[in-house]
Amino acid sequence: MKFFVDSADTREIQIAVEMGCIDGVTTNPSLLAKVGRPLEATIREIAALIDGPISAECISTQAEAMVKEGVALSALHPNVVVKIPMGVEGLKATRALAGKGIATNVTLVFSPLQALLCAKAGASFVSPFVGRLDDIGQEGMEMVRQTVAIFDNYGFATEVLVASVRNPIHVLHAALAGAHVATLPLAVLKQLSEHPLTTLGIERFLADWEKVPKA
Ligand code: E4P
Repeated sequence: MKFFVDSADTREIQIAVEMGCIDGVTTNPSLLAKVGRPLEATIREIAALIDGPISAECISTQAEAMVKEGVALSALHPNVVVKIPMGVEGLKATRALAGKGIATNVTLVFSPLQALLCAKAGASFVSPFVGRLDDIGQEGMEMVRQTVAIFDNYGFATEVLVASVRNPIHVLHAALAGAHVATLPLAVLKQLSEHPLTTLGIERFLADWEKVPKA
């Protein structure tokens, strides 16, 4: 299973990379707004920190403009994956970009059938948003389970990239479902490394070490 870090903050990305278990990065306009940095410069800086897929999102709403934007984004760095919003225009753009050999990540996916369309259009990744579905009282992870099952049934190469991850349980269930990737906020990545018994165990070992004769 691959882990991406869901951030446009290069300091956070650096920390995640140093933790040794990050394979790529996802950004979106909200994450860029949070750091208050321009897209192009941020993507180039991220590419210097990690050798893996970096999702950069299109803001156009029509296929032709999305393709133009996607071509420009992919020219920023060979690891750029063009993030395309789901919908008829997004699917058209995905197909056109796939035809040009440009990797895509279809975002804002909220149903397995939307995901199926993305795979058929030739998306490299599809991003089901689990947290936002949970927020409205629908079980987001069920969409992931069904999407993985459908992709397995037909041998689609499109990777299921679980997004809108809010907690470690989301990551556990994504892994059990066989999702290819989960994109995690740094806080969730750190939570995965923690356990109260680990903390307690370290404290006890250090306390006992004080009682060990030193030579
Ligand atoms: C990543 O690709 C998504 O844009 C991101 O995970 C969305 O997360 P949110 O629902 O917490 O904003």
